[in-house]
Order: sequence, then structure tokens, then C-alpha cells
Amino acid sequence: MSYTTTAFPDGFLWGASTSAYQVEGAAYEDGKKASQQDIINQNNYRERGFATAEVTSDHYHHFREDVALMAEMGLKAYRFSIAWSRVIPDGTGAVNPAGLKFYHDLIDELLAHDIEPIVTLYHYDLPWALVERYGGWISRQVVDDFEAYARLIITEFRDQVKYWTTINEQSIIVQYWTQKCYIPEEYRGDNQLRYQINHHMNLAHAIACNLVHELVPGGMVGSVIGYSPIYPLTARAEDVMAAQNAHDLRNGYYLDIYFKGKYTDSAMAYLERHGLAPKIEPGDMELIASGTSDMLGINYYASECAKACPDDGTREMRWNGVNLTGKKGDISGFETHPGFYEMCKNPLLDTNDWDWAIDPVGLEYLLRDIWMRYGKPLMVCENGLGAFDTLEADGTVHDPYRIDYLERHIAAMKRAMDYGVQMLAYCPWSALDLLSTSNGVKKRYGFIYVDRTDDDPRACRRYRKDSFAWYRDVIARNGAGLTL
Ligand code: BG6
Repeated sequence: MSYTTTAFPDGFLWGASTSAYQVEGAAYEDGKKASQQDIINQNNYRERGFATAEVTSDHYHHFREDVALMAEMGLKAYRFSIAWSRVIPDGTGAVNPAGLKFYHDLIDELLAHDIEPIVTLYHYDLPWALVERYGGWISRQVVDDFEAYARLIITEFRDQVKYWTTINEQSIIVQYWTQKCYIPEEYRGDNQLRYQINHHMNLAHAIACNLVHELVPGGMVGSVIGYSPIYPLTARAEDVMAAQNAHDLRNGYYLDIYFKGKYTDSAMAYLERHGLAPKIEPGDMELIASGTSDMLGINYYASECAKACPDDGTREMRWNGVNLTGKKGDISGFETHPGFYEMCKNPLLDTNDWDWAIDPVGLEYLLRDIWMRYGKPLMVCENGLGAFDTLEADGTVHDPYRIDYLERHIAAMKRAMDYGVQMLAYCPWSALDLLSTSNGVKKRYGFIYVDRTDDDPRACRRYRKDSFAWYRDVIARNGAGLTL
């Protein structure tokens, strides 16, 4: 089926995305202290050879050059996150003026280039001090500490930042909790904590929404969900039901909180039956319901597939597998919830080297589905292709696979818009190469190549990839003429 885009609406925010710990580096400079990602990534380096978070893309020292490159691409928006441990190094208490200054300088630089900042308050990088003090997100204390941090940041930047996103990908944090949160060894067997952590994040999210409404006149706030639409493996009714169950636990369970202020009944019933439900204290649900979202950020990389899974004692509950090598097929397994669903490979879709299905139509499908259910404006906060890129001797990087991926996803998004979905922004992952959360720096996503390896940060020199010029042209013609 062929489809070609017409121009996007005026004011549509063509952007790109990063997150603090994955791009900034300067992990221990100018007063910043460790975040849990600095510690987790030290382990990843020792155990798997992936780069640490100490230098990453050295954006902290290159941010003016990076913003100039973004402006050259024609970006209208840049979505990035603030590192809590840069501005409040111990998580609570003393504020680090140099940390705040960095974000002031960055935001000033963006605005000077007419690039709208889209700020994420939290992207996996809890101050390590809070992990040491009380186990991090496991403890309810983190909600109060997050409130103080969020109040500081929102107050500080309220005159310059209109678009706020709260917590990046609670759905993915539940799936991959030990990579997204530092979980002390003794707790790792207790899967209820995944949902308890998520409950604490729901409280923090609601507080942040309320703070934006209180402090930023005309501001817009919402969460960023890591979202995969889930297809049934076959048209058998049992597989269709399994896909619905998977949707309820993996997607609806978050969306219903953001937009209805309640947990999805079916997912909650499943969690309660297995002793996994979060402990909810009096007043929690009222707080959650009060923190209404104005919009939703969506991170979309791949659709997923589910099939029925018998509850006959032969299968064990497990969460997602991961491919750590970048060799297709090396995925370590699939999420399994006996009696509810089991995730599986979609035989109809090609994948990238890390087994992530490539599915542009999935983007149209999820945007239309979320719009139909909740009717709030949406922004794509992440979408992109992780790949092994090659820097040629002449400084070029040819990435036609990324161009193809992005073109078809943008076209799919536009078709959803033609059917009525209100989209605010498209911020693909990533503005420049950075540290992958699961695969080091060799898995690249950027429009801008950063010359470094997992072992050697080198000078992190920047090079424009072919996709850089391509995206610049897409923006220049406001998205017209792209084919699905
Ligand atoms: C999203 C995260 O889950 O996916 C990003 O918000 C992450 O932080 C991106 O980098 C791609 O995943 P990965 O594991 O390839 O880095």
C-alpha cells in the first residue's frame, strides 16, 4: 500500500532527543556526584565491555557545538533530561550552582537558536546517594525527595520551558529493572518490588504534573511511556486474548494511571493473584488522580507479539529478555506470564541486529489507538534505529538503513495525523550518538556521529551522517513527500 505525506501542520516541532547520563559525560565534574547509572555502567564495562557513563558523548563540553549542529539541521525542538545528581549531588539538600548553570547555558543556547526545549525531569539516573541512603526507588522516601528536586527545576526554568515530561519509561523500568534502577542484590528476587517502584513513580509523576500546573502558566506536562503495540501471533481467539492481556499489563497499566488516575482492572487482578501488586497507602490514588496529564510522550522502537501461555505448571513467570551482542537471534528469552500471555517473535517482521522488530505501521497503529482511548495530544519523544555505523576515512558516515527507517516511521505518523491524531512533536532518538542503555556506544542512533569506542573516548569529534542532511531536508520541506 503506498502512501506519501503532505506537509505537516505549521508549528509542528521537528526535534531530536537525548538523555543526560547517555550524552553528557562529565560524570564527576563541577560538583556532580554519581547517579545510579554511573555505578550500573561501571559494572556494564567490567562485565560486558560496554562504555562507562563517565564521558559518553562529552556533550557537557561540546554542547554549544551540538546545538549549532542541531540548528544546522533545522531542529525546532530538543528533548533532553536533567541529571538530578548534577543539580543536587546528594539527592537532597545543597544545590550545585555549577549544575544549574550548565542547564541554564544549554537552554539559553537552544532558545538563541529558536529550538524549543522539551525537558524530561528523570531518565533513569537517580542520585547514587539516595540508593545508598535508603535503596532508591524501593523506598517511599524517594517521592518526597523527587518533589523537592522537581520543584527546584520547574521553578528555575519555568519562564523558558513550556513542555515538561516527568519520568522516562516506567513501563521499561518494570521490565528491565536492574538495568534502569540499581537494585541491591538481596532484593533482586522480589518481583513485587518492580510494581512497588512503579507505584512510587506514579506518585512522583502526579506530583510533577501538579507542580507544572501550579508553577508554569501555559505549560504542558505528561509522562513518557516506552510503548510497543502488541499483536497476537495468530488469529486464534486465545492468542488475541493473550495480546490483550499483554497490552493491559505492559501498556494500559501505565496509560490508565496517566489519563484515568487508576490501575487497569485486568492487570491489577493478575498482579494481585500472584502477590505482585503494589502496596497502596490511603490517599495515594487521590494524589495520582489529581495529577492530570496534558499530553503524552511516546518512545517507540518496535512492535511486539504475544501468544497464549498455559498455566499448567510447566512454565515459569519471567520478564523480558535482551540481546547483548548485536547478533540477530541472540535474545535471551521472552517475557512469560503463565495463564496470561507469553511474548514471542513476530515471524512477519524483519528486525535490527538486536532483535527489535522494524514496524513503521506499528507507530500509526499505536498513535491512533492511544488517541482513540485518551484523546490527548501526543509527542514522539523517541524513535530510531540502533545500528553499527562506519566512519569512513573521508569523515562520511553512510546510514541509508536509518534514513529508510525514519522516513517510513514519519510517514506512518503523518498518516495517523491525517486520521485525526493530534501530534505536537517528533523527536527521534537520537540527536547525536550516545551511550545505549543496553549495548554500549557501538550501537548508534544519532544523526551526528561521535568518534569514540567503548574502550576509548578519544576526542569525541563530531561528524555529520548522511541522515543528518536527509533530516535537514525533511524539516525544510515540513515533512512533505515521504513514503511509507
Ligand atoms: C529507550 C530509552 O528505552 O530506548 C533510551 O528511553 C534508550 O534511554 C533507547 O537509549 C534505546 O535503547 P538502547 O537500549 O538501545 O539504548
